[in-house]
Amino acid sequence: MLDLFDGEEPWQEPLADGAVVLRRFALADAGTLMAGIEQVSACSPFRHMVTPGGYTMSVAMTNCGTLGWATTHGGYLYATRDPQTGQPWPAMPDAFRALSDRASAAAGYAGFTPDACLINRYAPGAKLSLHQDKDEPDLGAPIVSVSLGLPAVFQFGGLRRNDPIKRLLLEHGDVVVWGGASRLYYHGIQPLKPGVHPLTGEYRYNLTFRAAGAGE
Ligand code: SIN
Ligand code: FE2
Repeated sequence: MLDLFDGEEPWQEPLADGAVVLRRFALADAGTLMAGIEQVSACSPFRHMVTPGGYTMSVAMTNCGTLGWATTHGGYLYATRDPQTGQPWPAMPDAFRALSDRASAAAGYAGFTPDACLINRYAPGAKLSLHQDKDEPDLGAPIVSVSLGLPAVFQFGGLRRNDPIKRLLLEHGDVVVWGGASRLYYHGIQPLKPGVHPLTGEYRYNLTFRAAGAGE
């Protein structure tokens, strides 16, 4: 067989009840996913959103899919249009959907149909403070999170902000899926260390697939 992936085959690591890390699961698709990110951000550029509290986020964000996550003065919401362009968010690239389908099935959440994909871009120093993903109405659906480029330390806690926290390095191609009992677990990303990655340069990218609509 051709040695396309440094001889590394994907493997799974249980993380919590309902949560699993699919190591290197997206490695073979990384180039295609990166092209998708470029396509999406050419229409809806990365921007630093401002939280309701007036804090400018260090992570730059954009979205694709029917719905996109955004901040407003009043809170967080999913909207059909990019508030910056006034246009609908770019469609979710086929390769994004295909990877999400495969990953959710591998993690035991077959049938997950995301309608939103938040794309995060981390430059050195960028971080995401401990938070819950709770703006989605259907908490029966998991979150599928894909890491590309520079490695970052992921924090995964529990239902309460001060529950004990696991820290794990997420590397290029890793996918984390959480749902079920851990769907509302606190999580975050520690400040990105500087570096250069052959595919993504000085950045880390993260895709999170979500079912954000009212559901069918
Ligand atoms: C998120 O919590 O939305 C993103 C997590 C990550 O960047 O890995
Ligand atoms: Fe999150």
